[in-house]
Amino acid sequence: MMKGIIVRPGLAGASLDDIGEESGNGRVLVKTLYTGVCGTDREIVAGKLSITRAERGDRLVLGHEALGSVMDPGSSSFSKGDLVVPMVRRPGGCANCAAGRQDYCMDGNFTEAGIRGKDGFMRESFYEEERFLVKAGSGSAGIEKILAEPMKNVMKIRESIFGVIGRGLWDSVKDKGAWIFGTGTEGLLIGSVLSSVGMRVMLVNRHGLPEIAQELARHIGAEFFNSASGDWASGENAVPMDMIVDAAGAPSILLDAVRNIRHTGVIVLFGTGGAGIEEKLNGGTILNMVDKNLTVIGCEDGAREHYEQAVDFISENGEKYGLGKLITGIFPPEDASVLSAKQVGEIKSVIKW
Ligand code: BGC
Ligand code: ZN
Repeated sequence: MMKGIIVRPGLAGASLDDIGEESGNGRVLVKTLYTGVCGTDREIVAGKLSITRAERGDRLVLGHEALGSVMDPGSSSFSKGDLVVPMVRRPGGCANCAAGRQDYCMDGNFTEAGIRGKDGFMRESFYEEERFLVKAGSGSAGIEKILAEPMKNVMKIRESIFGVIGRGLWDSVKDKGAWIFGTGTEGLLIGSVLSSVGMRVMLVNRHGLPEIAQELARHIGAEFFNSASGDWASGENAVPMDMIVDAAGAPSILLDAVRNIRHTGVIVLFGTGGAGIEEKLNGGTILNMVDKNLTVIGCEDGAREHYEQAVDFISENGEKYGLGKLITGIFPPEDASVLSAKQVGEIKSVIKW
């Protein structure tokens, strides 16, 4: 009997069920330690995420954020007890995928564990190919390593930013200001990484900073701005607006961002909540983008190197920045409530297997 959390893509609901045994075929057998729950999972459970699809039949094992321990290395170079983080995305057939950059897949034929076309990690154990496992230490697990999966997205954002800043006169990002919209897990992780490369960070949301986030803000020296006040200029005095990252999944931010950001600024669109852009992108906004020489980057997923950078970042800075505190709740697999609703005071909820 192997228990796992099953969803039916397109339909609401999730259940903990017997999902049957698999055969290993030389693959690594991983015992699941923790799986993280994020907005993507909740959209799937609500039956609302249009991109989701089953691996076979109409069932999908949920879960793309995981930390596990190697039980049986199979024919791999892993050792029993190694801690591993499985990669979410699996290659399609394009040149980027062949080069290990399925995060930049061009033919759209990739799959994503727990999201589209591949069973995920919310189960007691799973078999995985060595090339899709990233080593995260060995022995007993610091729970903060569950943040490696969301953090890998941040490492790709960092790479993307450094890839484009050279088109302006940005000789470095040091002392430039980054405004980060959204103070959930991704927003706070983006804040900690941009602060670590010397940027001044402004965390932004529309309600007030939760206590755990206030603590992280102190550790990384970030300011906070409540965008409900509407007075962006007052915030700009504290942290210049050279860069804007949408980690809130509110694309309408783009319009305000274009209006307020400095010349040669960079706007990174990361959140995929997709609440929808209410106003139309008009000629004035586009003229502003041109006239200010702005760069807008859409950024999703990350490659193996970003997972490795994420693991290193968490090992090096986890304690200093108090990243473990971002885990605000640990739930048993039987407790389905965490899959459908955000918990009070939640930053990151995890399931312990
Ligand atoms: C994951 C990414 C994935 C994206 C879209 C995110 O939650 O972290 O790896 O590409 O969802 O499916
Ligand atoms: Zn996620």
